[in-house]
Amino acid sequence: MASAPDSDPDPRREAHALVASARALLQELVEEGVTDSLTPPTTAGPSRDASGRVDTRPPTPRSAPPSRPDGGAAPAVSPTASAMDREAVPWADRRPTLEEVRSHLGECVRCDLARGRHSIVFGDGNPDADLMFVGEAPGEQEDLRGLPFVGRAGELLTQMIEKGIGIPRSQVYICNIVKCRPPRNRNPLPPEVSACRPFLDGQIRAVAPRVIVTLGKPAAGLLLGREVAITRLRGTWQEYQGIPLMPTLHPAYVLRQYTPENRRAVWQDLKAAWERSRA
Ligand code: URA
Repeated sequence: MASAPDSDPDPRREAHALVASARALLQELVEEGVTDSLTPPTTAGPSRDASGRVDTRPPTPRSAPPSRPDGGAAPAVSPTASAMDREAVPWADRRPTLEEVRSHLGECVRCDLARGRHSIVFGDGNPDADLMFVGEAPGEQEDLRGLPFVGRAGELLTQMIEKGIGIPRSQVYICNIVKCRPPRNRNPLPPEVSACRPFLDGQIRAVAPRVIVTLGKPAAGLLLGREVAITRLRGTWQEYQGIPLMPTLHPAYVLRQYTPENRRAVWQDLKAAWERSRA
């Protein structure tokens, strides 16, 4: 006798199918911003880095002060800045140089991320770039090497720039919302994002790109000042302070969901961004 069309006689296969569809639904909710994570907040399981690998490093001790070149004790981390009391910067009314922005950042201890970092990952590339990429936060490799997007997600981004657009990576400028790696690659918290914001804005002013490409939901949401659903927003022209902005998917997301559709989507977005930057 034929079994009912919607029930699988093998309970294990049915359970697998249920888990797979629940996971797919949760992924959509994460993408739409309904929830922040695929991991329940109370789990103590291993975290994954931006490219999906399990982070096997022990959690950074919260009390460990950042090491300093002079070997002295690090100053206490200052209270975090909120959007209301964003730090005043000397370049408020003019275009700074990237060196000036970097030097003002100094050996930053403006937020708790200073405690666990190896390096400040400021940015990389052409200070006069027409195209500027903004990601979320450094991962493990970036923290170790002091450069943005040099891990697995970075390799994909580099390929998209070099093989997709057909220009050397050194021709564009790449940076992140926050300049220090969050512990175990968690999302940066609002006070951390706020504390770093003047430096991201300083970088944008300094480079004055013709087009900004945001990588993933947090960068698009931050620069547009609103909650966004990146899978719907990507590929549509937006604007940040008069600069055309193209939101696209984060390369770590593309690595996790390595489908022809996602790869094609990012390729189209980058091509559109590049063409507009040449116009
Ligand atoms: N993911 C990011 O958002 N930025 C990096 O620099 C690396 C991975």
